Amino acid sequence: MRIDIITCLPRLLDSPFSDSILMRAQNKGLVEVHVHDLRQFSEDKHKKIDDYAFGGGAGMVMMIEPIANCIRSLQAERSYDDVIYMSPDGQQFTQHLANELSLKKNLIILCGHYKGVDERVREHFITREISIGDYVLSGGELAAAVVADAVIRLLPGVLGDETSALTDSFQDGLVAPPVYTRPAEFEGMKAPDILLSGHEKKVEEWRFQQSVERTKKRRPNLLDE
Ligand code: ADE
Repeated sequence: MRIDIITCLPRLLDSPFSDSILMRAQNKGLVEVHVHDLRQFSEDKHKKIDDYAFGGGAGMVMMIEPIANCIRSLQAERSYDDVIYMSPDGQQFTQHLANELSLKKNLIILCGHYKGVDERVREHFITREISIGDYVLSGGELAAAVVADAVIRLLPGVLGDETSALTDSFQDGLVAPPVYTRPAEFEGMKAPDILLSGHEKKVEEWRFQQSVERTKKRRPNLLDE
């Protein structure tokens, strides 16, 4: 898989992709992440990428020209399954959508800023808009990193058995069961005996039951879905 992220603040995306699982996934050749600085695609002599909104009002609007130049230069090299725009009014990001995106080959993610992008970008270049939640971030970069992380960890080979994505919360419509590790007892607080019993089947049943109970208590909406 290849993910191209377009941003006017490329440094914001340095660290999420240069550590731990996301870095290892790239080093293993399972994913390529390319971050593109939008300013480099501006034809303006001051590398301008935003301007005042037509009709007035506070806040700058990201101009269509640098964005079009960047997207077109990428599309000239390869075809993309989706051109995603990160926006608080986009489709809610879920594990289901992460699964769907993890099956794609090439993705572009455009990060918004200020008052957002000129509407013509959304109409003519964007194929999908994603929100990571009902709150407003100062830009789309952190949201893009969230989406890329959730997608990349699902790619075959990225996680080892010990961190398999199949047992994650939401993967089966339930939240994950509680987990324990050594010591078996800490200041009188004991880990459940069943987990130390060595009965694999009983452990599995217990975990499933815990998942169902936790989901009912914490996220009952998941059971309706
Ligand atoms: N940009 C600003 N806020 C956002 C959000 N909640 N989701 C995606 N992109 C955003």
